[in-house]
Amino acid sequence: MRIVRAKDYNDMSRKAANIISAQVIMKPDCVLGLATGSTPIGTYAQLVEWYKKGDLDFSGITTVNLDEYKGLTKDNDQSYYYFMNDNLFSKVNVNPERTFLPDGTEPDSDKACADYNKIIADVGGIDLQLLGLGHNGHIGFNEPADTFEAETHCVDLTESTIKANQRFFASIDDVPKQAYTMGIKTIMQAKKVLVVVSGEDKAAIIKEAFFGPITPRVQASILQLHSDVTIVADEAALSCLK
Ligand code: GLP
Repeated sequence: MRIVRAKDYNDMSRKAANIISAQVIMKPDCVLGLATGSTPIGTYAQLVEWYKKGDLDFSGITTVNLDEYKGLTKDNDQSYYYFMNDNLFSKVNVNPERTFLPDGTEPDSDKACADYNKIIADVGGIDLQLLGLGHNGHIGFNEPADTFEAETHCVDLTESTIKANQRFFASIDDVPKQAYTMGIKTIMQAKKVLVVVSGEDKAAIIKEAFFGPITPRVQASILQLHSDVTIVADEAALSCLK
């Protein structure tokens, strides 16, 4: 596990974008596992800037996203499909047919999850998985639980996650209560993992997840067992570590 210390959010974003750029340059037909949430927005913005300068070519890549709210349509501005389109896909030359997310509009959870597992298998696994970190240690929407779920599954979001995401919705009642998320085995099978973390409100969980016991109560803690994890965190997020 490598920890890259960044000065602030912008520095974290640039450093993470550099790592993703290197991946795309080294393997132009790579599979990127992508994340949503507020943390990676600056990383995507930096990638878009370098693309516009002509420094990056996304035409050969495939993307698979971590998760999607169950019940939100693609044109809902809070769906992760919308987020990805808005922050990255519509701004670079990625082939839209090679961008994948779980289908939030599929009401049959078993089908939605089986379909997504097949997509991940068909693209041949993930070269680089980008992750944010939830305040309760969740990755994707793998919430604290008694076990680690292997593959794509439907989760009941915890109160704390619903509250954390409330800021994006008109009211707490509008926040979806369920989501489809990639499982922990799939994330652990990514060749490389890149975690971006920013802000003092993540300082306690970063310490717990990466220096505490490995437990499904803190799902990100499993990353301690991955052989190629890079955490890019700003000083505020690292403030509980020496
Ligand atoms: C969300 C997403 C995660 C994300 C996390 C942290 O609920 N499902 O993929 O990493 O919460 O979000 P943020 O970066 O906004 O703190």
